[in-house]
Amino acid sequence: MSSGATARALRLGLVSGWDDERLGAPDPKEFAYLLHERALTLADDVYDPAAYELVELEPQDYAGRLAFYLRRRSWAEWFFGTVTPARQITLLPEQDVAMRLRLARQISDEVRHHDVFAREVKRLGGEWRITTFPAPAGLMRMHHAQLGKQSVGELAAANQYSGEVVLSVQDRVDGNILRLLLDEQAMAAIEDIESDEPAHIAIGRDLVRAHAVSLAERRRMAVAQEVFLTALIVQHVTEIESLGAHRIRPVPSFEPASGTADAGG
Ligand SMILES: [Fe+2]
Ligand SMILES: [Fe+2]
Repeated sequence: MSSGATARALRLGLVSGWDDERLGAPDPKEFAYLLHERALTLADDVYDPAAYELVELEPQDYAGRLAFYLRRRSWAEWFFGTVTPARQITLLPEQDVAMRLRLARQISDEVRHHDVFAREVKRLGGEWRITTFPAPAGLMRMHHAQLGKQSVGELAAANQYSGEVVLSVQDRVDGNILRLLLDEQAMAAIEDIESDEPAHIAIGRDLVRAHAVSLAERRRMAVAQEVFLTALIVQHVTEIESLGAHRIRPVPSFEPASGTADAGG
């Protein structure tokens, strides 16, 4: 579906920088859709095969990098998939049982996802335990983008409506660089976990809609998504490259805030 190897960098709208009138114009459903589409557009670009040239790696280098990638996936299932929804459960009002139950179901899915990737690391003979995982700085930036948030809506914008939307392109047959970089079993693991993701993204949608009732909340959710996705772009492009690709299109970024000089790039 993607167009050719355009060299133009994708620029995403800086929703947090919109004036009150523009930020308040969409209804809550439209506002949530806007955040969803922003994350999806970014995912399309980051995982677009036309944005990369393949690089040949020594087989043993590739094997080590693949094992590391799968271990980092396992780490992320725990840190993003269980810790953040658990915090959301504690932040929601006691009477919001339905949403808290959906989040609890998400946590149980994510524990399974952790195990799926850990099994893949074991298959490759790598160290699979995440307790000693040397998390890359980019991954920790993503983690801190969530840790620093204190409201359910911001956490949704930075989690179920950020990373999980991006993950939704990773099991595509076309327009997916991972199909060219991962072996069949690793792709099967991704397809396996993706079957659970629509329910998690729907949690994000409903939480963003529910909190899109004030301008201040909208702005905070937009910032939360922007900070998380900014860190994600670097981490995901870096790991795609580690698996045997070289990015030839500039990486996507957010528009500069109005009134500030565009530093370019
Ligand atoms: Fe997951
Ligand atoms: Fe998920």
